[in-house]
Amino acid sequence: MRLIEAANYEEMCAKAANIIIFQVKEKTDSVLGLATGSTMLGVYKQLVEDHRQNGTSYRNVRTVNLDEYIGLAPDHPNSYRYYMNQYLFSHIDIPLSQTYIPNGASSDVEAECQRYEQLIESLGGIDLQILGIGRNGHIGFNEPGTPFSVPTHVVELAPSTRQANARFFPSLEEVPRQAITMGIATIMKSRHILLLASGTAKAAIMAKLFEETVTTDVPASVLHTHPNVTVIADREALSLVPDETRKVYGT
Ligand code: F6R
Repeated sequence: MRLIEAANYEEMCAKAANIIIFQVKEKTDSVLGLATGSTMLGVYKQLVEDHRQNGTSYRNVRTVNLDEYIGLAPDHPNSYRYYMNQYLFSHIDIPLSQTYIPNGASSDVEAECQRYEQLIESLGGIDLQILGIGRNGHIGFNEPGTPFSVPTHVVELAPSTRQANARFFPSLEEVPRQAITMGIATIMKSRHILLLASGTAKAAIMAKLFEETVTTDVPASVLHTHPNVTVIADREALSLVPDETRKVYGT
């Protein structure tokens, strides 16, 4: 695991965007694994700006998103499909037919999980997977306690996750209770993983992550066992990680 420190959120987003742009230029038909949430907003903004200014093309890129709420149709303003179209896909030149997100409105969500897992395989696997981290250490919607061996599956969202995401919904009651998520096994097959963390809300979990204990209690800790992980975090998110640890992981 490599650690790249950023002064603030903007710098973290710029560094992450540069890695994604480099990937897309190096391999124009890359498979990008994408995430939603607040952390990613600035990254997608930078990708859109770069596309406008420098013409970086996504014409041959394929994208697979980590997760989707169960019960929300793709055109629901709180669905992750809606988010991705709104913040990224509608502003770059990627054909929507090359963007994949689990279908949370499927009548058979178990079959949908299997279909999604096979789809990722049929694309040749993920070249670069972007991850945020939940305050409880989740990656995708793999909540604490999820075995590392599971592929794409249906999850019951932790009360703390529903609470954290309630800010996007009219009320907590309306936050879905279930989601489809790539499993940790799916995520771990990615060739390069980029984990982003910003702000004091992530400081405690980042300190836990860098304690190095690999445990299902902190799903993101599995990343210590992956050969190619880059963490980009800002000063606030790293404020509880000891200096010596930052030096060990620093690039
Ligand atoms: C989103 C996802 C989640 C988020 C995490 C952090 O697709 O899979 O794991 O990355 O909950 O969310 P934010 O960035 O809103 O703090």
